[in-house]
Amino acid sequence: MIRSVVQGCGAYLPERIVTNDELARKVETSDEWIQQRTGIRQRHIAADGEFTSHLAIKASQRALDHAGIKASDLDLIVLATATPDETFPATATRVQAELGMTRGAAFDVQAVCAGFVYAVSVADSLIKNGVASTALVIGAETFSRILDWNDRGTCVLFGDGAGAIVLKAEQGKGTSADRGILANALHSDGRQHDILYVDGGPSSTRTTGFLRMEGKEVFKHAVVNMAAVVGEVLEKAGLESKDIDWLVPHQANKRIIDGTGRKLGLPAERVVVTVDKHANTSAASIPLALDTAVKDGRIKKGDLLLMEGIGGGLAWGASLVRW
Ligand code: UT7
Repeated sequence: MIRSVVQGCGAYLPERIVTNDELARKVETSDEWIQQRTGIRQRHIAADGEFTSHLAIKASQRALDHAGIKASDLDLIVLATATPDETFPATATRVQAELGMTRGAAFDVQAVCAGFVYAVSVADSLIKNGVASTALVIGAETFSRILDWNDRGTCVLFGDGAGAIVLKAEQGKGTSADRGILANALHSDGRQHDILYVDGGPSSTRTTGFLRMEGKEVFKHAVVNMAAVVGEVLEKAGLESKDIDWLVPHQANKRIIDGTGRKLGLPAERVVVTVDKHANTSAASIPLALDTAVKDGRIKKGDLLLMEGIGGGLAWGASLVRW
């Protein structure tokens, strides 16, 4: 059985760090409120002229170096983003050109905060079907560009960044002991559009628009849907929550992350948390958390990882990976 095996990972954060106190000088908020409700202490914000593609390219170069794979060996790039450089072409094609990859295909996937899990699932399917053999999967965002900086209910929650992994087709035995992506589960519910969306776009308003969110409503769906999808993906792989070594969740809110960890019966030290330093970077949050825990030595070869996320759509999903 063909498995998509992770060869390496990389990440990049813009240089500029914005603290809660700095935001409290612009909108009516406080470091205390933000930390208590979300766990966020700071976020990175892209510089003027620094685009999603620039963050993606830097993260990708680091992932290729870590994997020991040349860009010319890639035959697929799947980039998850809700903040592309331009309406078209896909930001992935800019990454392709900059990396010097001239064959195969590069395209974007848009599932907002679930984007990375969606992109992993798409790349895994294309590898298993023989369409591609070596894939770069990226999550990259500049959410600072779609925030209403006068809306304290949203502007304190998000940040910019990028993360990437390299997947390669390898022969597996077809058991849960194989390295690679073991199972994916994806869902969406378009009826929930109004609780998290951007009020602009090329076809509707010819503007970029700003992010709008009913946080409490999203929170309720997040708790319920995350519990269901992690159960589903474990069942697909024939595994149980006690088999999980690391929960690598989407980083929206520490309270949602803690809730999912508790439902899985995982001790806090088995849950990777970066929301304090990165805030919510949408599609980039999972690969940023992943890179943090791989590079600091927590995640080791053979460990079982559960990645999960939910965002606008609503769209949500989970992937189980043997590192
Ligand atoms: O990644 C995509 C998925 N997104 C998520 O998963 C986000 C899910 N939602 C959340 O994380 C939380 O709902 C939030 C962090 C967004 C909000 O926390 P909450 O505990 O649900 O607070 P709330 O929205 O109910 O607001 C409570 C109070 C309100 O004041 P009143 O009406 O009680 O007087 C808000 O106006 O806090 C107020 N508030 C703030 N106060 C200080 C809202 N934002 C702020 C702020 N600073 N930044």
